[in-house]
Amino acid sequence: MRVLAFETSCDETSAAVIADGRVLSNAIASQIRLHAEYGGVVPELAAREHLKNLPKVAQTALHQSGLEVGDIEGVAATVGPGLPQALLVGARAAQAFAFAGSRPFVGVHHHEAHLYSPWIEGEPPEAAFHRFEPNVSLIVSGGHTVLVHVEGVLRHRVLGATMDDAAGECFDKVGKLLGLPYPGGPVMDRLAAEGRADAYGFPRPLLRDSGDDFSFSGLKTSVRYFLDRHPGLASDPVQLRDLCASVQAAIVDVLIAKLLGAARRLRVGCVTASGGVSCNREFRSRLMAEAASAGVKARFAEPALCTDNAAMIGVLGERRLLAGDRSGYDDDIRPHWPLEALAAAPAAC
Ligand code: KG4
Ligand code: ZN
Repeated sequence: MRVLAFETSCDETSAAVIADGRVLSNAIASQIRLHAEYGGVVPELAAREHLKNLPKVAQTALHQSGLEVGDIEGVAATVGPGLPQALLVGARAAQAFAFAGSRPFVGVHHHEAHLYSPWIEGEPPEAAFHRFEPNVSLIVSGGHTVLVHVEGVLRHRVLGATMDDAAGECFDKVGKLLGLPYPGGPVMDRLAAEGRADAYGFPRPLLRDSGDDFSFSGLKTSVRYFLDRHPGLASDPVQLRDLCASVQAAIVDVLIAKLLGAARRLRVGCVTASGGVSCNREFRSRLMAEAASAGVKARFAEPALCTDNAAMIGVLGERRLLAGDRSGYDDDIRPHWPLEALAAAPAAC
C-alpha cells in the first residue's frame, strides 16, 4: 500500500512516503535553531513553522518518492501525544488530503511509531518488520522515557515510565546549568567523549529499585547543588568535559540497567531503543556490549529515525490501515494520549 504520512507533534515538520513497508522518502525540516534562542520549544512558534513548512516538506517527500499524488492510497498522521497547536497542523492537513481524494486516513500514536522504528531497515531497502521479534523497547527522548514490552507487531504492554523528567529533559536541563546551548544532549555527548566518567559520583535514581519506572529530576537537582557549591567549575574546559561524562554515565547506567533488567525478568531475547537520546554514543556502545554479554540482541533505530520523523508514522500507519484501522476525517487530535490507552489494531494482518 502507498501511504503519505505527516509528523508535526513537536518541533520537526516531516512528511514521508511508504510503499509496502519500505520508506521511499522521509523529508524533515527541523526547527531546533529557531527554538534554541528560547532554550526550549515554544508551542505557538512551532505551530506557525509547521504551517509554513509542511506544504514544501510534503512536496519534497512526494518528489523524492518518485510517485504522483494520484498514486497515494492511504494517509497517516500523528494525532497524539504532543503539542496541541503543532499536532493540529499535520493532522488536519492529512485529513483534508485524505478526504479530498476519498482515501482512508489513520491517526497514529507517536510513541507506538517510535516502538517500531528500530525495525525499519535501511539499505538495501527491506520491508519493515522483516526481522521483527518480541522485545523490550525503550523510548527515550526529550519528552518521554518509557519502557514497553512489545510482544508482537501492534501488541504491546507498557512496563514503566519516568515519574518526573524525561532522560532527554535531564540532559537539556543539566546542559543549561553547564552553560551549554540547547539542546544540551548532543553537546554533552560530544564533550563527554573527552571527559572522565568517574570524575564525579552523581546519583543513579531508582537504579536498585526493582520496578520499571524512572526518575531524573533528582539527578538534575543534585548537579545544580553541586555547581552551586563549586562556582566556576563548569567554566574550566577540562572540568566541563568531566562533568558531562559523569552526568551522562549516571543517565546511561540507569537506562541500560532498567532495559536489560526488564528483558532478563521477562525472558525476552531482544531489546530496542529509539528517540533522540538513543543517538547517544555512550548509550549505544555500552548497550551493545552489555546486551551481548547478557546474550540479548540490541537493536536501535537508525540515527535519522531516532528523532521525530514521518517515516515511522507511515510505516506504522500502513500497518494499521492494512489491519483495517480507520480514523474519521474530522476526528480530534489527542494531545494527552497514554500509550496504555491505545487500542490494539483490529486484526493482525
Ligand atoms: O526524539 P527527539 O528528537 O524529540 C522529542 O523529545 O520527542 O529527542 C530530543 C531529545 C533532546 O532532549 C536531546 O537533547 C536528546 O534527545 N538528544 C540526545 C542526543 N541527541 C539528542 N541526548 C543525548 N545524547 C545525544 N547524542
Ligand atoms: Zn518522538
